[in-house]
Amino acid sequence: MDLNILVLPGDGIGMEVTAEAVRVLRRIADKWHHQLSLTNGLLGGIAIHKTGSPFPEETARLAAAADATLLGAVGLPEFDAAPPEKRPEKGLLAIRKALGVYANLRPVRAYASQLDSSPLKNHLVEGTDMIIVRELTGGIYYGTPRGITENGAETRAVNTMTYTRAEIERVSRMAFHLARARRKKVTSVDKSNVLENSQLWRRVVIEVAKDYPDVELDHILVDNCAMQLILNPRRFDVVLTENMFGDILSDEAAVLAGSIGMLPSASIGDRRPSGAWVGLYEPVHGSAPDIAGQNKANPLGAIGSAGAMLLYSFGLKEEAAAVDAAIEAVLKSGKVTADLRPAGAPATTEEVGAAVCAAI
Ligand code: IPM
Ligand code: MG
Repeated sequence: MDLNILVLPGDGIGMEVTAEAVRVLRRIADKWHHQLSLTNGLLGGIAIHKTGSPFPEETARLAAAADATLLGAVGLPEFDAAPPEKRPEKGLLAIRKALGVYANLRPVRAYASQLDSSPLKNHLVEGTDMIIVRELTGGIYYGTPRGITENGAETRAVNTMTYTRAEIERVSRMAFHLARARRKKVTSVDKSNVLENSQLWRRVVIEVAKDYPDVELDHILVDNCAMQLILNPRRFDVVLTENMFGDILSDEAAVLAGSIGMLPSASIGDRRPSGAWVGLYEPVHGSAPDIAGQNKANPLGAIGSAGAMLLYSFGLKEEAAAVDAAIEAVLKSGKVTADLRPAGAPATTEEVGAAVCAAI
């Protein structure tokens, strides 16, 4: 199979972790005789520095032409004071919108060998296996009006949380679809005791659920969800939620997996005529400028994202399963980076990538 992939390393540790994810893709291509064509592009802070824009037109063109895009991370401290429009993060939001990847899948597993990496008690996290389905191209991240109107003490900042029925429906279908291949349970997260937006969300989710009578549906308020994620994580199978709630809850859920460096993600949109999903694959973690360039970052989130790409964009189930199995084997071997608090000396980013390749 031809795998035409755009790689956008982005900022900070993005470069290091995508290098290891690419190394794993090469190993897979070698073993299963696929033809890998890689193109590199600019996104985020590095793109602002080189072109003036966080999402250059050239990157938009490359992403539209590629079968799938692998992304590292975006964000640089020198832009901390910049307005949203001029920040590296704007590049990420723009490419998600441009590709129409409305469903962000963030699986969270507590690997048996990694229970001690979590600050939580083993008996709480043990057996955790959920997937957060985060709506990705709507809600308060994109709603208008937005902005700051300067007026002394009356200076006002506005953001708008908006969803249409269609936007809620398509991401809900994705969640129910995924639940069918799992434990058949969807938990929809909202704040319907306060927000109209969430009331519509809940109404549409209930309607969609009628088409999936074999899947159990429950609803939970986002504040309670934040607590239940820690108290009783095993109660969750598929967690369906809107953009900002999903952003916040997925960082929290990372604690269950031992480190945010562990979490992969797949952002997918509609299916192409071939049946493959349009996809953008990125680890959940950020650019971590404090450890960038030190060969310390955990590449497993990026490597897992590459595995998700094989599955969703290329339909390569066996290859994707091989990546997951290799990640699990490396975790078991104890060859892990410092964030996972290994008993012995921590492994480097490159060592972990090489170990995953060797295990495939
Ligand atoms: C994420 C990140 C992004 C988001 C940032 C970098 C814009 O936190 O993917 O979770 O908020 O979506
Ligand atoms: Mg986030």
